[in-house]
Amino acid sequence: SWTMLNIVEDAVEAVRRQVGDGRAICALSGGVDSAVAAAIVQRAIGDRLTCVFVDHGLLRKGEAEQVERDFVAVTGVKLRVVEAADRFLKALDGVTDPEEKRKIIGREFIRVFEDEQRAILADGPVDFLVQGTLYPDVVESGGGTGTANIKSHHNVGGLPEDLQFQLVEPLRTLFKDEVRRAGEELGLPAAMVWRQPFPGPGLGIRIIGAVTRDRLDILREADAIAREELSRAGLDREIWQCPVVLLADVRSVGVQGDGRTYGHPVVLRPVTSEDAMTADWARVPYDVLSRISTRITNEVREVNRVVVDVTSKPPGTIEWE
Ligand code: XMP
Repeated sequence: SWTMLNIVEDAVEAVRRQVGDGRAICALSGGVDSAVAAAIVQRAIGDRLTCVFVDHGLLRKGEAEQVERDFVAVTGVKLRVVEAADRFLKALDGVTDPEEKRKIIGREFIRVFEDEQRAILADGPVDFLVQGTLYPDVVESGGGTGTANIKSHHNVGGLPEDLQFQLVEPLRTLFKDEVRRAGEELGLPAAMVWRQPFPGPGLGIRIIGAVTRDRLDILREADAIAREELSRAGLDREIWQCPVVLLADVRSVGVQGDGRTYGHPVVLRPVTSEDAMTADWARVPYDVLSRISTRITNEVREVNRVVVDVTSKPPGTIEWE
């Protein structure tokens, strides 16, 4: 729309004024906020923006490609991709405690990002760090001061505290729905623009038990099926988010194909919510649940049982970890 076009153009102009002929870096997460922020800054300063995407191997099916291929194709952004799955898996080896997982993922993210930063600095000084801070975040953190002050919850563990950058926050005056409309205006991939909330630590906190490559593959397949069927049923807007959780240390007996199996359950956790502070379990129609269950148990060999979480928040949190 005309007003949306103006919001984008004003933001681009403001970035141009702030950054001048300086250089900026931006970490992409796969989510809509960092993507829209980066796209706006790219329009303003072109190749003087370098984006960094740390693929920690904990994203859902297709999400890394959305960043590496589709987002780059649309925006022409200069992107450095770090394939860091091995490193993250090694660091997570045998770890089962949820907060320990978060800490490790956050710490590894910072290390990888700092390595990249060094490489980028070899091409010349960088003074600006782009962040997808939204208006509600600004209000929540008491107005903000223009220095790096990120709640670890909103981010892959937060960025290094000693970073000496000026922040560029082109979304500071916008609400989520405006960011999504700006994303559409900028031509970003729909799956990115309309992505439901997804935690920075990713699938790492949706595997109950230790995180391994095999378990990630199982969860990624089950999650992709659930997302596909919920979308097909037209429930994307109604449902706030639907974590799919793999109970990796639980086994139960089943019959699949010609024989007895001893597989893992997955939990569907569809919730409705306004702001994630409280939530209710979503009344997903039985036939949709049935399709998800049938497809997952047919298509994902290691899963022989699908259960639905019917707990509100409180007392349950949205995520299981
Ligand atoms: P809970 O599980 O606390 O989740 O009810 C509330 C919202 O926050 C998301 N969440 C996270 N986001 N890093 C994030 O960036 C995290 O460690 C994290 N833990 C939970 C969750 O998906 C939900 O939207």
